[in-house]
Amino acid sequence: MTDTAKIRRLAGLKAAGTPIVMVTAYDIVSARVAEAAGVDVVLVGDSGANVVLGYESTREVSVDELLVLSRAVRRGVSTPLLVCDLPFGSYEASNALAVETARRFRDVAGCDAVKIEGAGEIAERARAVVEAGIPVMGHVGLLPQHLEPGTPPRAQGRGVDEALAIARSARELEAAGCFSIVFEAIPAPVATAIARTLAIPSIGIGAGPDTDGQVLVFHDLVGLSRGRNARFVKRYADLFDPMVQAVQAFAADVRGGRYPEPSHAYPVDAGQLAAFLARLAAGE
Ligand code: KIV
Repeated sequence: MTDTAKIRRLAGLKAAGTPIVMVTAYDIVSARVAEAAGVDVVLVGDSGANVVLGYESTREVSVDELLVLSRAVRRGVSTPLLVCDLPFGSYEASNALAVETARRFRDVAGCDAVKIEGAGEIAERARAVVEAGIPVMGHVGLLPQHLEPGTPPRAQGRGVDEALAIARSARELEAAGCFSIVFEAIPAPVATAIARTLAIPSIGIGAGPDTDGQVLVFHDLVGLSRGRNARFVKRYADLFDPMVQAVQAFAADVRGGRYPEPSHAYPVDAGQLAAFLARLAAGE
């Protein structure tokens, strides 16, 4: 399926009332898991800054770093739509910069679409990228790239003015040609009301049950992220502790002389070995 057909398919899912499933991925393992699980959209999120690269803020990840992650994910994803985040600082300053960066994500990493955070001037960047032929996903509500490092994230749209501002942002992004919008950390009834004003699919994260789809960060849902999770995270597995236990068991076996066992070693012909040892001893 082409990227255009995949985007049309998302619109079809919305029309049919079938929830859209999106998950983040950052490497070949998470990409293969997402592909095998049959999700609709895979996002190489700039959340990779935190969950994979160990930065405090998504603001710290560079284009080159996110391109490496995106290329790895591309190798493992063929069925879902592949969307890549444009990192902080790589698109805001001008339409030309936004188009240039989006082209790198398409041409170097093979992304089907890009995602950018915010509206206002950013909606103009979105329009320019769409006009350059690259599909754009918008992002409203909580915008991690707009948070000063160290500032705790908080839900958006709890007051009338903030909720109306989010509604306006979503409309601007739709008018700019975005094919879908992420709604992050917005009270459910506010998100529902705004989503209903849009013709394009909304994908929620902490935005209640009525957006057209849901997204979670891979490391949060499989239990690989550390620290306190956001309110909206549901853990479907807890893989961190079993992984620690596996490495501890390996360490104990190595230290106790129990690994490797004979079955883990490669055989060698006795004649070849004897000849090799003789020549090695002779100084060859
Ligand atoms: O970077 C990310 O993971 C995201 C999701 C929260 C939508 O933008």
